Amino acid sequence: MPDRPFLGVEIVSKYFRLAVRRAAARRLDNLILLRGEALYLTSTLLPEAMARTVHIYFPDPWPKSRHHRRRLLDPRTVDLVLSLLEPSSGRLCFATDHVEYGEAVVETLERHPAVEVERLVGGWPEGPRTNYEAKFEERGRHILRLVAGLRTGAASLLHPAGREAILVAPAAADQPDSASRTSS
Ligand SMILES: C[S@@+](CC[C@H](N)C(=O)[O-])C[C@H]1O[C@@H](n2cnc3c(N)ncnc32)[C@H](O)[C@@H]1O
Repeated sequence: MPDRPFLGVEIVSKYFRLAVRRAAARRLDNLILLRGEALYLTSTLLPEAMARTVHIYFPDPWPKSRHHRRRLLDPRTVDLVLSLLEPSSGRLCFATDHVEYGEAVVETLERHPAVEVERLVGGWPEGPRTNYEAKFEERGRHILRLVAGLRTGAASLLHPAGREAILVAPAAADQPDSASRTSS
């Protein structure tokens, strides 16, 4: 896609530098790379409705229940992620080799009133989109791929709590000793 601008986000310095080197070697002058945590950047820096497509491929699945809250896409963050999409035409493309996480993402998106979800049977028309996908395909691993689109006029159903959940500190009333302070 030579003319279309792309924005890539990577949190780990080593992989960020690798991506910068690879982009320079391929002279990808339509690519901007940002180093940082994707949800933090989405909450603080990236404008709503900025993207025709949001691509999330093989995000860390955080399989232990106590770590689910670290997942990039889950019920807590879904509105925040979807808020990046252009209303009505925006699409989210997602893939994972982790069955449990993939099914949880499908359930989260299918329950969302603003979203239509389509699972892909087989791969993307143009073949693997990322290094992980190519590697897992070669090994014959099952890959769950989906495309989710915003329903026409449904952008207003995106709840701003997604943004607030990332940014807002606990209210004073949530802190352990606040009850004793307010009653004295
Ligand atoms: C399993 S790799 C997949 C890489 C690539 N998407 C692919 O499919 O080949 C996950 C990458 O996402 C990065 N990452 C994980 N959580 C992140 C976050 N919250 N914000 C930004 N990058 C993140 C990791 O450092 C790692 O480079």
